[in-house]
Amino acid sequence: MTIRFLLNGEPVEVDAPPTATLLDWLREQRRLTGTKEGCNEGDCGACTVMVTDPDGTARALNACILFLPQLDGRALRTVEGIAGPDGTLHPVQQAMVEHHGSQCGFCTPGFVVSMAVAHLNGRRDHDDQLAGNLCRCTGYAPIIRAAEAATTAPVPDWMRSDAKGLPSASFSVSQISSGGRHWSAIGPSDNGDGGRQPPTCPTSSDELAAWYLDNPEATLIAGATDVGLWVTKGLRDLGPVAFLNKCADLRGIVADDETIHIGAMTSIADLGTFFADRHPSFAELIRRYGSAQVRNAATIGGNIANGSPIGDSPPALIALGAKLHLRRGDERRDIALEDFFLAYGRQDRQKGEFVAAVSLPVQPDHLRCYKLSKRFDQDISAVCGAFNLTIDDGMVTSARIAFGGMAGTAKRALAVETALIGQPWTEVTVIAAQSTFATDFTPLSDMRASASYRLRCAQAMLMRYFHESRGELVNVLEVRS
Ligand SMILES: Cc1cc2nc3c(=O)[nH]c(=O)nc-3n(C[C@H](O)[C@H](O)[C@H](O)COP(=O)(O)OP(=O)(O)OC[C@H]3O[C@@H](n4cnc5c(N)ncnc54)[C@H](O)[C@@H]3O)c2cc1C
Ligand code: FES
Ligand code: FES
Repeated sequence: MTIRFLLNGEPVEVDAPPTATLLDWLREQRRLTGTKEGCNEGDCGACTVMVTDPDGTARALNACILFLPQLDGRALRTVEGIAGPDGTLHPVQQAMVEHHGSQCGFCTPGFVVSMAVAHLNGRRDHDDQLAGNLCRCTGYAPIIRAAEAATTAPVPDWMRSDAKGLPSASFSVSQISSGGRHWSAIGPSDNGDGGRQPPTCPTSSDELAAWYLDNPEATLIAGATDVGLWVTKGLRDLGPVAFLNKCADLRGIVADDETIHIGAMTSIADLGTFFADRHPSFAELIRRYGSAQVRNAATIGGNIANGSPIGDSPPALIALGAKLHLRRGDERRDIALEDFFLAYGRQDRQKGEFVAAVSLPVQPDHLRCYKLSKRFDQDISAVCGAFNLTIDDGMVTSARIAFGGMAGTAKRALAVETALIGQPWTEVTVIAAQSTFATDFTPLSDMRASASYRLRCAQAMLMRYFHESRGELVNVLEVRS
């Protein structure tokens, strides 16, 4: 497949296997070695690059789990393109120098790109924007001070030029380069025929539906934050693949008075922004979902379709009464989201069927989500609980409660709900309901938590919801002695 994009302002055209990663291409084909490889699995931010869409939206993404076809028609800026054409340092680079934000320097290019994107987008939440960039020697205080110091500096012209170069970007390609090396020499993504088979890049859900019906064994790639690791860590040959990122009609959120309809290709970052006002606890949960780079790439469709028992969005969506919209060819069906998860690794999805959207009713906000993980930022949940109760005149009139990390799938707590509905909303009721968790769940012990710890935490989350519903402070970030 021929992929065209702007690289640090210059149009480039690349012939690459579908699962060649941007990081490999930059370092091995273009010798742009400022972009570093730390973990090669989206966890450290050393490979952060800036990607701009034709609509001008600029995002920080991890190059190690970004496949080259995902860049087609977009603009890429690496750390080599963050300083001005005449070598003038970007304000965040200057601030890093002045605030001693770098020691060994390995993490510095990734930090600088994340900071430059945040600066361009006017973000001031530096802790969140930089949570996906790890530094093992400088310490974060000087880096955060540098980010703060740069906020008032104007955005340099060259940082805005990418959006202007797109979308026509006439791509009168001045440079067609793979650095003189054959792709077959550069790594796992080239193993086998699958890695060389041209990918499909449908531009609409209709096109995708028709193609997937004919190619039901193919792998769909949305944000690649799971699939990327199958290649970089699992060394898997994916066979035929389809990239969904050009299916514009699968992206975006539409809401009316009754329903919120979320396209499968909506990013987790956009989901967080949307829910900030409607269900702030869901947005807060999303703030702790991976890192800015992961949230910018990952999609809601991927987070559901992967069937992970510890995916963060399914418990909240189940608690909100979400429906899943599936499509196979011209056939469409809608199911309750909780019914999609059949057992560990098994979902109610037919061959050739894909997730088109998820929708949920507009409702008053009673949702609270509690994520328990070993590390606050950028960590997978050990237990994730979502509670959505309606209390009328002191009585529980409805309850939807769902958990991740408590079973082989995201799962509703039906026995707990039954123990609550129709009861007075009191501590006595909560304590009685706590004993029913063991009816709903038989959690596993693994490296994240033991079974008994998981059960006790889930019970404690219900008590936390009770106290929070009475206006008490329950968040460790808010509680003060
Ligand atoms: C560093 C890191 C941190 C992470 N942190 C978290 C976290 O805190 N919480 C969390 O929940 N997850 C986390 N994840 C996991 C991952 O981000 C999510 O599961 C993500 O939502 C997957 O979405 P994607 O678009 O990247 O999916 P992809 O990787 O593109 O696809 C995942 C799976 O879904 C399938 N698929 C994708 N879209 C569709 C569709 N529309 N229809 C049918 N099948 C489809 C793919 O074929 C594949 O099987 C993390 C991942 C990384 C690398
Ligand atoms: S190399 Fe660590 S996130 Fe890419
Ligand atoms: S400066 Fe050494 S890892 Fe950050």
